[in-house]
Amino acid sequence: MLLKKIFYSSLWGKRLCPFPFNRLEISNQNDFIPCCYDWVKYDSLPTNTNSQVWNSEQAQLIRRSMHDGSMKYCDQSKCNAITFSFLQLVFFSFFAKFSKKFPYHTLSFKVLLSILLKKEVLTEKPSHLNYSSDLSCNLKCPSCRSNYISNDPKINLEKNTGLFKDIALEAETILFSGGEFFFSKRNLNILQSIKQSEYPNLKTITVMTNGLLFNKKLWDGLGEGKLFIKRILVSIDAGNESHYRITRGGNFKHLLENLEFIKTLKESNELDFFSIQFVPRKDNYESMEEFVLLGEKLNVDRVLFQTFCQWSESSLEFVEQAIHLKTHPNYHDFEKIAQKVKHKSIVTWNIEVST
Ligand SMILES: C[S@@+](CC[C@H](N)C(=O)[O-])C[C@H]1O[C@@H](n2cnc3c(N)ncnc32)[C@H](O)[C@@H]1O
Ligand code: SF4
Repeated sequence: MLLKKIFYSSLWGKRLCPFPFNRLEISNQNDFIPCCYDWVKYDSLPTNTNSQVWNSEQAQLIRRSMHDGSMKYCDQSKCNAITFSFLQLVFFSFFAKFSKKFPYHTLSFKVLLSILLKKEVLTEKPSHLNYSSDLSCNLKCPSCRSNYISNDPKINLEKNTGLFKDIALEAETILFSGGEFFFSKRNLNILQSIKQSEYPNLKTITVMTNGLLFNKKLWDGLGEGKLFIKRILVSIDAGNESHYRITRGGNFKHLLENLEFIKTLKESNELDFFSIQFVPRKDNYESMEEFVLLGEKLNVDRVLFQTFCQWSESSLEFVEQAIHLKTHPNYHDFEKIAQKVKHKSIVTWNIEVST
């Protein structure tokens, strides 16, 4: 009877999110970010005073809020992550190992045990790392920033790589984002240092890039770490040259050449996944259909549309550009084009329409 009670309460009892136990984003701040920065209520958390983010006071409080079922630091109005009871988590984590759809849901036996024992300090390092700590970039896209951010000449590359290694050694997946991966001396130094023998669990590196530096010469010059780069996500935000000039300011012809090169890497199975991405706003939404055609021509795995957000360093007037708001004067025109593209099988539509 008691066993039955324990079984049912583990199956249908309090629900929790796996991310605070298996996933970490390293940003240029010092916060413990298990999911999307916007989904955590940092105002109600103490600031981290050390760089040991994985077991920092913030991290422990967030894990405690999972154990007690309150999830009080999660902004439920924004978060769309799946939550689980303990037994569901065990089943799902096992299932995720065989599914390409849920790369961030796998949990090791040790971590599952730590959850069962309600531990807040974890001895295992994160399995899934989003490394976004370097913001340097060759572009200054107005949706993202007002000024160029160059490589910091004072950075100690060896020390930076050592800090990365300390947290990433047990990772199964690493996503590089933040600034521009192929421009960043810090990130390229990290990639050069990655040896298969030192990262026994590592399966996949995903790189989110603007694609402008990604050509054959660059690819051929990357070290052993390149063998882990299996997923490339290219952010473009335009379906034609004139929109590209406005949204990114780069050379569209070079970009198209580089996209053709990435296509060959996918065809030769050096890559597993090739996606192109678009954040619609007033200045570019009219080229969404052309963008889908580009994706079809390149035979990409996914054409992703994402919501335009209000970023503090952006040089744009948010309300004027936010075409996905029902109150925007061009919203109905945007919606008409959206209806033509969003149901295509190649398209993933991650746009939250709001008022
Ligand atoms: C900051 S970039 C870093 C990676 C790389 N430099 C790139 O452009 O893909 C990461 C993603 O943020 C997106 N982004 C930029 N400004 C945004 C905004 N205001 N709202 C939502 N996404 C934005 C970019 O389009 C890109 O897909
Ligand atoms: S969106 Fe990407 S490419 Fe554009 S400025 Fe930001 S980091 Fe650079």
